[in-house]
Amino acid sequence: MIEVCFSATGRLDFPIHSGVNTAIMITMRWVRAFLFFAFAVIAPFLCAQSAHDPSAFIQPGTVWLDTQGHQIQAHGGGILYHDHLWYWYGEDRRQGLDPDKRYVACYSSQDLIHWTFRGHPLELTDPTNIGRNWVLERPKVFYSPSTRQFVMYFHLDDSEYKVARVGTAISSTPTGPFHYVRSFRPLGLESRDIGQFVDDDGSGYIIFESRPSGGFYIALLSSDRLSVERQVAFLHLALEGGALVHYNGLYTVLGSHLTGWSPNPNVYASAPSLSGPWSEFSPISPDSTDTYGSQSTFLLKVTGNKNTALIFMGDIWKPKELWDARYLWMPLQIHGSKMYLPAPTPWTIDVTTGVVTMK
Ligand code: GAL
Repeated sequence: MIEVCFSATGRLDFPIHSGVNTAIMITMRWVRAFLFFAFAVIAPFLCAQSAHDPSAFIQPGTVWLDTQGHQIQAHGGGILYHDHLWYWYGEDRRQGLDPDKRYVACYSSQDLIHWTFRGHPLELTDPTNIGRNWVLERPKVFYSPSTRQFVMYFHLDDSEYKVARVGTAISSTPTGPFHYVRSFRPLGLESRDIGQFVDDDGSGYIIFESRPSGGFYIALLSSDRLSVERQVAFLHLALEGGALVHYNGLYTVLGSHLTGWSPNPNVYASAPSLSGPWSEFSPISPDSTDTYGSQSTFLLKVTGNKNTALIFMGDIWKPKELWDARYLWMPLQIHGSKMYLPAPTPWTIDVTTGVVTMK
């Protein structure tokens, strides 16, 4: 018979009785060594991991790594939810890319926390001979259920932002390759920063800033998403980084003032329908914080079985090192028609329940 007991030192001891053969003794020594290793070395490591796993939290403003350990490059981005996956598209500003091309990066996730790089759905060479330092910014991808195609919109411009057009590209898969279609001015108007919105009935919209009219437009897309059909609203405040959401029976638009790469107090307004009447604009966070150093790019609604979370997605730009620009994603606090962006802190979300937890 073999008894197993703990010694005073906490180690496992196996009193060996006469009659037990050498093979069993050796085996038991190996078992003891293994168990000691498992308890003393692996277990504390695993416990520490589960208690402090930094990758299980979204940490606004820090370097956000993808599942391969590379810094996520999805600036001025937007999210598409398709076939149980979230796709995050944005400007890829990493160092070492071909300076004549512009790159849109795509990441996918099942939990909004861990993102896998899915390559460059669009790698574009100056499509309309704009010239050196041409600009492709704020890519957004729509899915058209009627054509089963994915359509990307982006801001297309020259280095002085005088071209002021949108570009479109199309693909049969969310990860591309997208093929450039054309560039145009939506509703015949100058268009710089663009934002995207899909309503509960599936209609797609872009929001675009138009400097000559001193405001921004919400415009309906055709069902194939390839053209801009008509103006739905004009809001008379010059705003960029526009975002729009439908939450709790209210439409809310959000945007920043026109201060280029520098942050400013982002503002929002709400309305019972897209065509208005729209409320006055209010700051989303205390003015002195300049939106905690960020600029809006998207409002993400996550509908769970217990809660519907609304997430502010913004960019913390670093104009001299755009490749190291950061992200500020934070759950918004909503009270009736009031919306508030709390100070950044690590947080996490359960996408099944929609429940958000602050660290
Ligand atoms: C910001 C805009 C960015 C980029 C930048 C260039 O206002 O939101 O997307 O265009 O200006 O200065």
